[in-house]
Amino acid sequence: MSKKLAADTKVALILGGNSGEREVSLMSGKECALALQEAGYQVKSFDSADKDFILNIQNYAPDIAFLALHGKYGEDGVIQGALEFLRIPYTGSGVLASALAMDKTRAKTFYSAAGLPTPHSVSLRRSEPYDLAELVGVVGEKSVVKPATEGSALGVSIVHTPDELGPAIKHAFEVDDTILVERFVEGTEITVAVLGNNNPEALPIIEIVPHAEFYDFEAKYETGGADHIIPARISEAAYKSAERIAINAHNALGCRGMSRSDMIVDQFDTVWILETNTIPGMTKTSLLPDSASKAGISFPELCTKLIELAQE
Ligand SMILES: Nc1ncnc2c1ncn2[C@@H]1O[C@H](COP(=O)(O)OP(=O)(O)O)[C@@H](O)[C@H]1O
Ligand SMILES: [Mg+2]
Repeated sequence: MSKKLAADTKVALILGGNSGEREVSLMSGKECALALQEAGYQVKSFDSADKDFILNIQNYAPDIAFLALHGKYGEDGVIQGALEFLRIPYTGSGVLASALAMDKTRAKTFYSAAGLPTPHSVSLRRSEPYDLAELVGVVGEKSVVKPATEGSALGVSIVHTPDELGPAIKHAFEVDDTILVERFVEGTEITVAVLGNNNPEALPIIEIVPHAEFYDFEAKYETGGADHIIPARISEAAYKSAERIAINAHNALGCRGMSRSDMIVDQFDTVWILETNTIPGMTKTSLLPDSASKAGISFPELCTKLIELAQE
C-alpha cells in the first residue's frame, strides 16, 4: 500500500478475541491504541470476539489493521487470513509464518532445518498411545510438558521426576490436542526481539529472572513477577549467537515486522531456542517494548514502525 501521513491513516486496532490470552490482549491493545493516537494516527478499536466484528471492520474501511491479539485466532494465521480476504493490510507476520510459529512442534522442525539448536522433544496427539518410560528415555528425567499451540505458559509444567510426567501430560491435554514433552534446559532464560521484514535486526537482549520456578503466567503478567535485565548477563559469544538465532528463526519461519524468540543459554554457552512469538505482549512494560526502549525506540515510535513495516 502507498504510504500516507499518520493523520490521514485510518487504523483499525484489533484486540481481545477468544483465546486464553484475551485479557493480555485487551491490555496490549489499549496501550497500543493510545500510543498510535499519540503518534498522530486515526485509531478505532475492534474486539475480534464481537459477533459483528467482520461487518464492523468492513464498514470502517481502515487503511491498515494493527493486530494486538495473542494466541488462538489472533496470532496463528486465522485473523491474518480473514484480513487478506478482506484486502486489509495488517501489521506483523502473514498467514503461514503466524501458523508455523504458533505451533511449537512445527516451529521446532523449521529451527532444526535451519541448524538452530532447539531442545530435544517428542510431540503427542490426544488419544495417541504413549509409553512413559520410553518418553523419559528420549527426553530425560527432567522435562517440560507444554501444549503445542497455546501461549502465556498456559498448561505448561516442569517435570522434576518421572512420576510427575503422567499428570503433567494430562494437564497439558486439558488445553490442547497436541502437546510437547521437551528436555529441560538448565540455564539463563533470555528473550530476543527482532524488528524488520527481510533484513530484521535484533533489539537488546533481555534476561528474564522469574520469581517463580519458571516464567509462568503469573510471572509474565503480575507486576514484580519477574525481573528484566538488559542487556542479559551472558557471555559475548552467547549474546552474538542469540542475536543470530533470533534473526535466523524469524527468517526460517518467514516472519515479518516483529518477532520475539525465547531461549535458554546453558552452562556450555549453547543457546537453545524454545519458541518464537509473532505478536508478543505489547504493553509499555512488556518484553519487546522494554527492549525497544533500551534501543532508544519509544513506545509510540515502535507502534509507528510496525505500521511502516507493514506498508513496505
Ligand atoms: N525446555 C525447557 N527447559 C527449561 N525451561 C523451559 C523449557 N521450555 C519452557 N520452559 C519454561 O517455560 C516457559 C514457557 O515456555 P515457552 O516454550 O516459552 O512457551 P509459552 O511462553 O508460549 O508458554 C519458558 O519461558 C521457560 O521459563
Ligand atoms: Mg514463551
